[in-house]
Amino acid sequence: MSEIRKTYPLDVEPPMSWTHVVREIPVVTVEEREETLEKTKWNEFAFPAGMLYVDTLSDSGTTSMTDTQWSAMFLADESYGRNKGYYIVLDAFRDVFERGDNQKRLINYMKEGVDRDNVRKMMDEVYLVDVEGGFFNGGKFQLSRPNTFIVPQGRCAETLLYDILKPIFAQKWPGKTFIIPSNAHFDTTEGNIKQMGSIPRNFFHKEILFEVPESGKYDTNPFKGDMDIDKLQQLIDQVGADSIPLIYTTITNNSVCGQAVSMKSIRETSALAHKYGIPYVADCARWAENAYFIKMNEEGYADKSIFEISKEMFSYFDVISASLKKNAHANMGGVLAFRDQGLFWKKFSDFNEDGSVKVDVGHLLKSRQICAYGNDSYGGMSGHDIMAMAQGLYEEGRFEYQNERVKQCQYLADLCTAGGVPVVQPAGGHAIYIDVDKFFGYKRGHESFCGMGLSLEMIKRYGIRCSELGDCSMEYDEKTPEQQAEVCNVVRLAINRSQFNKQHMEYIAKALIALYHDRDQIPNMRLTFGKGIPMRHFHMWMEPYAPSKEEMCDEANYGFWAQWEKEREEKLVKWGLK
Ligand SMILES: Cc1ncc(COP(=O)(O)O)c(C=O)c1O
Repeated sequence: MSEIRKTYPLDVEPPMSWTHVVREIPVVTVEEREETLEKTKWNEFAFPAGMLYVDTLSDSGTTSMTDTQWSAMFLADESYGRNKGYYIVLDAFRDVFERGDNQKRLINYMKEGVDRDNVRKMMDEVYLVDVEGGFFNGGKFQLSRPNTFIVPQGRCAETLLYDILKPIFAQKWPGKTFIIPSNAHFDTTEGNIKQMGSIPRNFFHKEILFEVPESGKYDTNPFKGDMDIDKLQQLIDQVGADSIPLIYTTITNNSVCGQAVSMKSIRETSALAHKYGIPYVADCARWAENAYFIKMNEEGYADKSIFEISKEMFSYFDVISASLKKNAHANMGGVLAFRDQGLFWKKFSDFNEDGSVKVDVGHLLKSRQICAYGNDSYGGMSGHDIMAMAQGLYEEGRFEYQNERVKQCQYLADLCTAGGVPVVQPAGGHAIYIDVDKFFGYKRGHESFCGMGLSLEMIKRYGIRCSELGDCSMEYDEKTPEQQAEVCNVVRLAINRSQFNKQHMEYIAKALIALYHDRDQIPNMRLTFGKGIPMRHFHMWMEPYAPSKEEMCDEANYGFWAQWEKEREEKLVKWGLK
């Protein structure tokens, strides 16, 4: 007899979580926020979070964790050497990045007290298991060929990698300048590459990024985050493969509006990289969101789980560099790993003439990790943060969770589109992005830093913090013309995981729509301190100034600025700043 499954469909999704603990926030006036902006030098990172209604600066580490994660934290131990969480998290990495649906979930041994009641089982199945051949060696192989490095966050993985590669490059290829291409590097990745003396390049399809169909909607996600493989091939032809030590793919593509990357693109980029013997790096902070997009939009994946898709994605890479403050649903965490005895290991280790290993790059990385972050079994993390990260990796692979999360971002993007605000469509998996040039009717130039003006005006008027990721933060004015062409002038609103509800989305959308209609009243911004400092947006001081008449969408609005200048002077005197 066939099973009868009766459903009563509605045009809203059923809720997938409810609030368990509440964080209450204070009432703050516009004037209090404006005084604070002046006193914190209009640096959006320096504005006190405790004075905001909604903080969308970053989805990094801002997650509200699940009850399951909080309970896993209680099971942690804080031992210096080989805490229990070390074994659990290494195996969680194997589960979510390599095993697909055939997971072991050793974390459940901790929940069931096996670690207390059955040491033999722990020895045989957890503590003394030798694993080799993948990204996460275990037992004796992690000692003889270390290839997994726990770190507190993504940029630590990057720094660790480049601290080691810089002297290797200098020794093996003295005087040579290297180029490291990506479908788009994150700002810290760019910063780390530049500080090593190499040149980052961003090969995404800029021409399709800002296109939006007339309806404002795509039927299926167009994977705007894909690598522009032709540009990558051109670079290889132009400079030669030996000038390209690594090729990156960022999934999802954070700097390119959080856009998804297709399995096809990952597969093709991998094939091209490997054709030329170049190790292929996954910058995979949002691996699970990307796998969700593949499941929902790419042919052949609808019936596969997020974990199965993840397994295939990572099968194409040689190196994993991840901020796990995103898709480990955790407040802290990161990892650097490379395939055991794979292309990265072969390229950057040193060998004797008989083929035996002279210097294993894994040992170099481990020594540096110990110097910078501590023993490899905690890598700068507390034992309880490691447990939260291990459990969170599994939470991220739940279809119901990802479905709700990605749809929440899309809901916000659609509200903005309906209200006329030019946001990039489709929404990213973790954020929406405003097309700044379009927002200002293409009237304001690169030097106006109007995206920063927009972002700071959102704080002032509505207590909503966004993140400018365009001309100002990406240092447009300090780039070469070819790099300038690769900057997306956007403001990002990142959606914290498991924290916001529909009211947050509607408040943000109404604020953006209102500000869009008042866009001629948004000041330009200028740098008063910080030019030339690497990652200047974390350091800089700014000040607002009135735009010119030509920069108005409607010149009739220009009268506003004379009054604005007068009032600002008065306020500066009142707050003791003049
Ligand atoms: C793609 C990508 N790579 C690297 C990083 C840096 O990670 P973290 O902020 O954990 O240092 C981020 C952070 O947002 C990111 O999105």
